[in-house]
Amino acid sequence: MLIHIRNVLTPESVKDILVQLGQSSWGDGRETAGYLSSRVKDNSQLPETSPLSHKLGNIILDTLDRNQQFISAALPLKVVPPLFNRYAGGQAYGSHVDGGVRPVAGTSLRVRTDLSATLFLSAPESYDGGELVIEDDFGERSVKLPAGDMVLYPGTSIHRVAPVTRGTRFASFFWVQSMVRDDARRSLLYELDGVVQRLGGAESTHQEAVRLAGIYHNLLRFW
Ligand code: NI
Repeated sequence: MLIHIRNVLTPESVKDILVQLGQSSWGDGRETAGYLSSRVKDNSQLPETSPLSHKLGNIILDTLDRNQQFISAALPLKVVPPLFNRYAGGQAYGSHVDGGVRPVAGTSLRVRTDLSATLFLSAPESYDGGELVIEDDFGERSVKLPAGDMVLYPGTSIHRVAPVTRGTRFASFFWVQSMVRDDARRSLLYELDGVVQRLGGAESTHQEAVRLAGIYHNLLRFW
């Protein structure tokens, strides 16, 4: 399932992050790619261990901590510190799969990449191309979101970033290990949680909502 989470960052926060990214020095994106991926990857990345990457990544993690839709959709157990990339001048990232396990730089921590996330930072009208194209059961889906919006998609998907032929595309990306590994089960829980939340408001359905919430939590424990 692909999940679009709107307004993860405020416009002010996006602007502030873009200013800092614009002034920083960038490394070659191939440094964090596996053997197969490095052959199709052409972008720039903020070095994983740079103080700026830590600082901006923490801003994103703090907002995600309070984002109910993210928590409901991802059921996060561990989150890889967000990284930042930049595409310009025809740069692209060809079809690839993300590694199943991601070490966290500077720690002994390893995160299973159940979910991949891309948080768009550049306004879509400021660049051409740069769509994140994700293959799923229904074919290809092309994703290009407003600045501050994020897409969550299964870490198992084959995906690519289309060439950026005008302007510059800045984004943050990271991975989540979920408490529920299976995408189908996680999607079911997300949908059920949404129904429980909406039902909870009406007094007449209170008892049913409580029962349904019980089913949600029992499934979560089970899975
Ligand atoms: Ni990828």
